[in-house]
This record gives sequence, structure tokens and C-alpha cells, in this order.
Amino acid sequence: MYRHVKIATVSEPQAWAVGLCAKTRTLPAGYAELDLKLGGAISSAVRRAEFSAEAGEITCLYPARGAQRLYLLGLGDPRKLGLRKGDPRELTAEAVRSAAARLVKAVYAAQVTRLGLRFLPGLGDQVDAGAAGRAIGDGLGLGNFEFARFKGKGNSNSKPKPTIDLTVDVDGPCREPAQRGLIISASANITRTLAATPPNVANPAYLARECRALARQVGFTCQVIEAAQARRLGMGGLLAVGGAGSAPPCLIALEWDGTRKAKTGNKASGGRPVLLVGKAVTFDTGGYSIKPAADMDKMKYDKCGGMAVIGAVHAAAKLKLPVHVVGLVPAAENMVSDKAYRPGDIVRFFNGVTSEITNTDAEGRLILADALAYGCKRYRPAAVVDLATLTGGVIVALGTFCAGMFCGDDKLRGQLSAAADFTGERLWQLPLWEEHRTLLKGVHGDVVNSGVREAQPIQGAAFLSYFVSADGRGNVFENPPSGGWAHLDIAGMADVKKDTPLYPTGPTGFGVRLLVRWLEGWR
Ligand code: BES
Ligand code: MN
Ligand code: ZN
Repeated sequence: MYRHVKIATVSEPQAWAVGLCAKTRTLPAGYAELDLKLGGAISSAVRRAEFSAEAGEITCLYPARGAQRLYLLGLGDPRKLGLRKGDPRELTAEAVRSAAARLVKAVYAAQVTRLGLRFLPGLGDQVDAGAAGRAIGDGLGLGNFEFARFKGKGNSNSKPKPTIDLTVDVDGPCREPAQRGLIISASANITRTLAATPPNVANPAYLARECRALARQVGFTCQVIEAAQARRLGMGGLLAVGGAGSAPPCLIALEWDGTRKAKTGNKASGGRPVLLVGKAVTFDTGGYSIKPAADMDKMKYDKCGGMAVIGAVHAAAKLKLPVHVVGLVPAAENMVSDKAYRPGDIVRFFNGVTSEITNTDAEGRLILADALAYGCKRYRPAAVVDLATLTGGVIVALGTFCAGMFCGDDKLRGQLSAAADFTGERLWQLPLWEEHRTLLKGVHGDVVNSGVREAQPIQGAAFLSYFVSADGRGNVFENPPSGGWAHLDIAGMADVKKDTPLYPTGPTGFGVRLLVRWLEGWR
């Protein structure tokens, strides 16, 4: 794919791309000038109605003059675009996002380096240019992702690809939001690259190194709590899960404080930071409660919650968002050896709570427990959001169309839902009540890490609830952070099993754009 995509003015584009809505039979007025320049190529295509402009359709024409290529992009039914001003009930801008992603692949295949892009006239009146532009930027960025690091000389489709850059000229009102979208999706692509990196390379020590390098490049801070210090701090969960790993477990702490200069943001929260926590199990064999062979290779994606947190902090720093955000990424490899933890072990966490290990495959909650308790005590966050590929059960319940959201705070839930609608990374609420905690009652420890078969995603959330609080003491039912806590179970969303325009088979970067959108509105 392209080495770099940027948005700027282009003097003589080699190719133009225009968006058209379904059932458009007359040339949208905004395309008149471009149409003239291209010798009437757009208007004749619209008139002939061969291009139905269904969402996802893309066609390349060769105009008689004006440019070498003209791409027509179908945006589908304009009523479904969700880009209309002031109508929050509409669907998301997914059509625009995926059209831009298809486009970036098509123009790469044609080796285009200068592209003109005009979407707005095709979207009808009263389009929200902010949302449309952001979707364009997202799509151009996400569509440009490729993980080619391990493509060797072994097969014909891995010829070294030419590395060229692309400059895209985007309509005036869409330009700035598109630029923002491009920056954020570049961070999401960092998340995807880390996520795709195989477990024999990306162990906890590797992730710590990568985070240090990113922090240096972009200007946020990175501190790593190594295993020895984790032991002194009493992080029994992190140490147990990572005991048999190819590298010791660690807790990576990232921090971006954009409030000092900005004098805005985090105001209402008294300067307290937002805390993001993400599960980074670099490989999940299940441990002694070992997983079946089928699809175990996909467990390299068990670090995706943590990688999303890294991407979100990266984007916050790149955009210099006026917020104070702390990202904690507990990293461990869940393996089998004489150093591995066992079913029957009793583990004590950072906040003193103990758990009997009934299943070593319910490991994500154990490393999150230490990170959440530590984060709440050390940073006194205003609000806490954690992301984790925590349970297969959430896929059974919701499929691969949305993440499960557990959040007892109406305001935070509303904010996250709004952000999800905006970015198309959908969330669906599941309940977490005190009663659910009865499923985790321990015999010789405070709790067990895995109970009966029923309500497994909720059991995961219930377990975590013992470790989230305003000050590091108590739990979320007694003493919640003032701005609330949300747990997002992203097991069904971290990777896709077949190609889509936005996401080729592999990691999606789910959560990065969502978190950044939420942080953009944080006060
Ligand atoms: N990482 C898995 C969850 C998972 C499964 C993610 C499939 C993506 C696809 C997690 O650590 C796990 O193994 N969860 C167990 C929990 C159970 C033992 C309580 C599960 O879901 O089976
Ligand atoms: Mn597991
Ligand atoms: Zn796991």
C-alpha cells in the first residue's frame, strides 16, 4: 500500500473521484465545474444510469480530457448516510468510510500519486461536512493498512511493492475533518500493526520497547513497571498469568497531559485524568486449562484491547488533545510450563482482594484486576474505560457486529454510545448488577475467576468490578469513579475473518477511533 497518504491541494490530479448517491439521475450542481473540465464524463455517466451508486460500488472511467481517470463511488441511499445535520437517529457514515477505503486501494493499484476527491455534492443537501470529512479521512487511512513485515521471497504475490506516496485534494469543508480522520486512523493502524505482529516476536518485552519508541517520537510519556517491581507492588494476577511466558510480564503506563498548556479540558473533573486500561495477553494458550487446537493461532489477537489503548494515547498526543489521559497496558503471555500458574492456585491482587483460580483460561481479568486497582489508586481517575478480548461468550451473545458494553453510569454510557455511533464501532449494553457477583463466590478465596457456564461475559465484568473505584479502595458498587467506569468486551471485534473494504482479514484496531472521539468531547 501507500507509504504515506496526505491531504493537501493538488494542482493537476492524475485522477478524480466523485461520490454519487443511489438513484441520482441529474448531475449534482456542485459537480458542474469538474464535469466540464472532464469533458462531461460525470454527467453522461449519471444520465446513462449504468452506475447505480449502491453503497460499495466503484467504477473507473477514462475521460476524454482533464485527467487520466475518473472514479465513481457509490454512496448508496442518502437517507441512510447519517451525515445530516441535527439528525442523530440516522445510521453512521460507514458508506463514505468504506468508499474511501475502496478508493485508496483502487488508486494504489493504478499507481496514482495525485488524486482529487469530491464527495460532498454527491451527498445531497444539508450534509454534515464534519462527519463526512472525518469518514473520508478514516476510510483513506484504514484502507491503506497492510501488514507486510513477514512477506518474504517465498511466493509470487509477495514481490516487493513500489513504495509511493499519495496526496489527496479533498473538498474545502471536508478537508480539516478528513485530515483529523487520517491522523487518527494512522494511530489505529499502529494498533493493527502491533496486533498483527506474531506472538514469537510480540511478547511483553517487545511491546514495552515499541511503546517507549512511540512515546519518544510523539511526545507522551512511557513508564514500564517490570516484573520485579510488580512483585513488590503485590500484582499477583499479572505475575501469575505471565509466569510461564517467553518474557516476564510487565505493566506499561502511557501518559498524555494536554491540559497544562491548553487551560481547558478535564476542568469539570478537577484535573483528574481519564484512565484507559487494555488487556494485552500476547498469546493465550489457555494455560493448563488449555484451549483446543482450532483457531488457537488467533490468540495473538488477545492483546488487542491493550493495543487499542496504545493507539488512542498515540492519537491523543498527535492531535494534542486538551485532556489528561493515562493508558495502562498489562502485558503477559499465558503459557504452559513448570512456571505456569495452576487451577487451584489462590492469587492476591494489588488491592488485597484474592481469587481462587478455577480456570487458567480466564486470565484477562486477572491482569486487568491489577492494572485497574493500581490505576485507580495511583491516578485517582475521573473516569475509567477498559477494553479487552475478554470472553468468547460475548461473541455467542452479540456476534461480530458490536462490542459488549458494561457501564452503570448513564452519562458515560451516553458519551461512549454517541462516540460509537459517530465512528461506526458499535457498542451494545449488557447488564451488570450486584446479583451477578454471586456467580463468582469463592470457597477459600474472596472470589473465583470463573464460575458456571451462564452469563460468562457478565462474570468477566463482575470480576473486574472488585478492582475499580474512585480511590483504589473498595469496589465500583461502593465507591465508583465520579465520571463512571465502562468495561468493553471486544472479543468479537478485534479481528475479522474475511476481507471487508475497511478491514482485510486480520486486526481492526477496534476502539482507537471510538476512544479518541470520546476524548475529543471530554470536559
Ligand atoms: N481471550 C479469551 C477470549 C476470546 C475467545 C477472545 C475467543 C476471542 C475469541 C479469554 O481469555 C478466554 O479464554 N475466555 C474464556 C473465559 C472462560 C474460561 C470463563 C472463554 O471465553 O471461554
Ligand atoms: Mn483465555
Ligand atoms: Zn484471553
